[in-house]
Amino acid sequence: MDEIKELLDKALQAVSEAKDGEGLEAARVRFLGKKGELTALLRGMGQLPAQERPAFGARVNAAREELERAIAQAKEARRADERARKLKAEAIDVTWPAPAAAMGALHPMETIQRQVEQIFLGMGYTVAEGPDVELDKYNFELLNVPAGHPARDMQDTFYFTDSMLLRTQTSAVQARYMTTHRPPIRIICPGRVYRADEVDASHSPVFHQMEGLVVDHGITMAHLRGALDAFAKALYGDSARIRFRPSYFPFTEPSAEVDISCTICGGKGCRTCKGSGWLEVLGAGMVHPNVLSACGIDATEYTGFAFGIGLERIAMLKYGISDMRLLYENDMRFLTQFGR
Ligand code: PHE
Repeated sequence: MDEIKELLDKALQAVSEAKDGEGLEAARVRFLGKKGELTALLRGMGQLPAQERPAFGARVNAAREELERAIAQAKEARRADERARKLKAEAIDVTWPAPAAAMGALHPMETIQRQVEQIFLGMGYTVAEGPDVELDKYNFELLNVPAGHPARDMQDTFYFTDSMLLRTQTSAVQARYMTTHRPPIRIICPGRVYRADEVDASHSPVFHQMEGLVVDHGITMAHLRGALDAFAKALYGDSARIRFRPSYFPFTEPSAEVDISCTICGGKGCRTCKGSGWLEVLGAGMVHPNVLSACGIDATEYTGFAFGIGLERIAMLKYGISDMRLLYENDMRFLTQFGR
């Protein structure tokens, strides 16, 4: 009996000293396993006198149960510890302020394009688009610029083949539109255009235009002036004025360069307008009758006007950007200035 007591104490001691689940299991095997020390006592029972065996067996079984209970309790305590430790480690304080997410912003070119679109949509125009890779037919021929015409030199063109090129002007979209739609026509054509120009502060081989076209009965230069005046005031404020200077484009007659009163000095003369008080921002004119006819519109019945705005120029003036390259380099120091 003393031996049982001693063994039980030793086993309980081992259980209380076990550091983890593995240690507990080792203690269980050591005392309660098939070859365990307590199990061995039961095995040895055969050597006892028959009348002592029941009491001995009962004592060993009681010790066994006590030990099993102790092991189960220790295991449960370990699990509880483990759970508490995990809960603590994984605790989330939902009252903490969230880290501020970095917000993107529209690129200034996108903002300007949308603004200009909104101005013309408000005047009843719709947006028309066409392909960047264009046929010579739409970019030049239908626009009164046949092969060999000297005006082709005005726009240094990237050709793929004799008949296929990267469009040099979104006027190509207007030609497409006129061959598939009948007047009244009132469209704006935003998009990328391409010219073989060297990159510098005011040139890029890829840039953006927004061209406009109106064709209907009795359209005159006064309508053109009115539309562009409304555009200038909507974009730069009510004090903005426009002026027309005679110019030449093969697809319009008469043609004009259109200036807007300087947005920086208001017309007094400054560095941006080179002292003139005016900024050159777009080309315009009355659609040449040859263009209407080539696109299948009766030039004796209809007249129209067209204009072409360089969007980079508008953006640079609006935001005071002095070098066009900034618009394409995606330098975060530049772009983040247009954030929220
Ligand atoms: N397409 C001309 C250009 O890119 C601009 C323009 C458009 C001029 C419409 C007159 C009328 O230079």
